[in-house]
This record gives sequence, C-alpha cells and structure tokens, in this order.
Amino acid sequence: MSVQIAASVLSADFSRLKEEIDALDSADILHLDLMDGHYVPNLSFGFPIVSTVHRISDKPLDAHLMVTNPQDYVDALAELGVGWISFHQETVFHSHRLVQKIKSLGVKAGIALNPATPVSTLHDILPELDFVLVMSVNPGYSAQKFIPGAIAKIRQLSSLKADYPQLKIEVDGGVNDSNCKDLISAGADILVSASYIFSSANYSNSINKLRGINVQ
Ligand code: DX5
Ligand code: ZN
Repeated sequence: MSVQIAASVLSADFSRLKEEIDALDSADILHLDLMDGHYVPNLSFGFPIVSTVHRISDKPLDAHLMVTNPQDYVDALAELGVGWISFHQETVFHSHRLVQKIKSLGVKAGIALNPATPVSTLHDILPELDFVLVMSVNPGYSAQKFIPGAIAKIRQLSSLKADYPQLKIEVDGGVNDSNCKDLISAGADILVSASYIFSSANYSNSINKLRGINVQ
C-alpha cells in the first residue's frame, strides 16, 4: 500500500478551522496533537476541537496523546469518533493494559517513541500494536527540525514487519519534501506533517509532494 499522509491540524489557523480542514482534502488522515502542559511543556487543544473536527470532516482521526495519564482520555476519544490513538511509552505503568483497552473500544492502538527511546523497548508489546509512532522531533511543538536518527529506527521497525505484518509505521516531526523520500524508502507507512503543509500556498500540492508525486 502506498504511503498515507496524516495532516496535523496543530498548525491550522483555528479562526478558520472549517476552511483549513476543507483544504486538507488530499490528506488521508487528520492527526490531532493533544498536549496537557505536563508531559510536554505546551498546551494544545482538547475534546471540543476533536469533536468539531469530527463534525467537519469524515477523514479518519488519529489522536496523538502527549499527556500524562493517557488512560483517562481514551473512552472519550473513542466516543468522539477517533479511529487511532497513540500514547507515549513513558507515560503509563501498564502499556499492555492500555493497548488492550484502546483496541476493545474499536480503535487502533499505537505507542509513540521519543527520539531517545529505542525500538527494542517495544519488543514484548509489538504483537499487540496496530502502529508505532516514531517521533522525529522532541514532542511538544510543530515546526522543529527533523532528527535524522528516526530513519534508522523506521528501517529497524520495518525489518520486524515480517513477524508483525499488522504493524504500521508512522513518523511525526519535521517531515517535509526533502526527507519524505528517505522516510518512505526506510519503510514509513504514514507521514505526519503540520508546518510543511500549513506554511505552503497549496496544501494539496504539498501533500502530493510528501507522497513523492512530482508537482509542478
Ligand atoms: C509535535 C507533534 C507533531 C507536530 C508536527 O510534538 O506531535 O504532530 O504537529 O509538526 P511539524 O510537521 O511542523 O514538525
Ligand atoms: Zn503528533
């Protein structure tokens, strides 16, 4: 299957949210960055925005939880129609239990790996995961510089797909038209992008460029 593009609404102009979401028509997935000011030093948005995005768009919603106690949010997110949820491995004592809980809600479950967290820490839970979110920046802000170590991590995860064919690899942070080809050839299934898309004049062209399609 070809690469999917998850547009992160974090960089949208929230005063024109409907217009912005409509302009993301070429994206496959909408990525929602939830930040609580504890796990990361930033606040983003919460349930009202998730609900609004769901009302505006019929695209799959991918909630990236950058929060402590992610287990407190999953019921409400499933209720709001989110299809994918990832949480950071460092934020829970019982990741296996939380993954089971997310899946029991009919939602795809993923674990996010910070740039300094190795793939090997996922060894025992990989059979349960629908996806891994490889962070290519330190979580908390959009428009940060891509950390190239993510590419080796994607390659490593990709080599494990023979054993875990269900596993999708999503990469998040600093993705743009200069690194997308390397990310795709390393084995990324889903590219997340905020600032690259939203700082461009034509979101569809930028999304197509991320797919590796030549755009004039
Ligand atoms: C960062 C978030 C990202 C962010 C990506 O903590 O998880 O999803 O929106 O933004 P860009 O694409 O600008 O790096
Ligand atoms: Zn994210």
